[in-house]
Amino acid sequence: MQIAPSILSADFANLERELQRIADADSAHVDVMDYHFVPNLTLGLPIVEALQRVTPIPLDCHLMIDDPDRWAPAYAEAGAASVTFHIEAAADPRSLARDIHAAGAQACMALKPGTAFAPYEELLEVIDMVLVMTVEPGFGGQSFMADQMPKVREVREAIDRRGGRIRIQVDGGVSASTIEQCADAGADVFVAGSAVYGADDAAAAIGELRRLATACVHH
Ligand code: DX5
Ligand code: ZN
Repeated sequence: MQIAPSILSADFANLERELQRIADADSAHVDVMDYHFVPNLTLGLPIVEALQRVTPIPLDCHLMIDDPDRWAPAYAEAGAASVTFHIEAAADPRSLARDIHAAGAQACMALKPGTAFAPYEELLEVIDMVLVMTVEPGFGGQSFMADQMPKVREVREAIDRRGGRIRIQVDGGVSASTIEQCADAGADVFVAGSAVYGADDAAAAIGELRRLATACVHH
């Protein structure tokens, strides 16, 4: 069970210090948005390269951008431990996963709430993680979409059927009150932005999320 705080809710004027606040987490989730794939703009490669130089934990880059086939491998080259592309934006996801691996990172495919998993099940052959979005991508602090839990279960069943070790990440509205249903459905990597950075004690919030997720056994 891994906790990946999203720095989208951090103080962007003090990112090095904000990464230190989550040094107990498993990875730091970095939301890259381009004003095209989503109606918001955050940060890009130069900032990720800078974060990579100071982060105490691995970076997990979530690319909410058009044309990930062209742009995603550079985030792996910058040193990100995992690079997530949206399946809705990828032209050739197999070749993209190969490029990300060749650049030294794990490859993850993300599904927006309206995107079904079934058409992409075969891609489990080439990826390391599936991100099931539990909000519409674009902004932190939105309400958790419990109606995505059947999709998490479907992905978990497909992974278990194949006997692989692929992880399932959930992202959006994950908090102490919603994390258990995610874990119960089969998720094992939990992104939390406002629930961690909105807390006075980020380390305590991470510990509590991890405790709740670990106490939940999925089938
Ligand atoms: C939303 C981002 C999320 C966001 C989550 O598009 O992908 O990573 O930071 O924020 P919370 O946890 O506040 O919903
Ligand atoms: Zn994200």
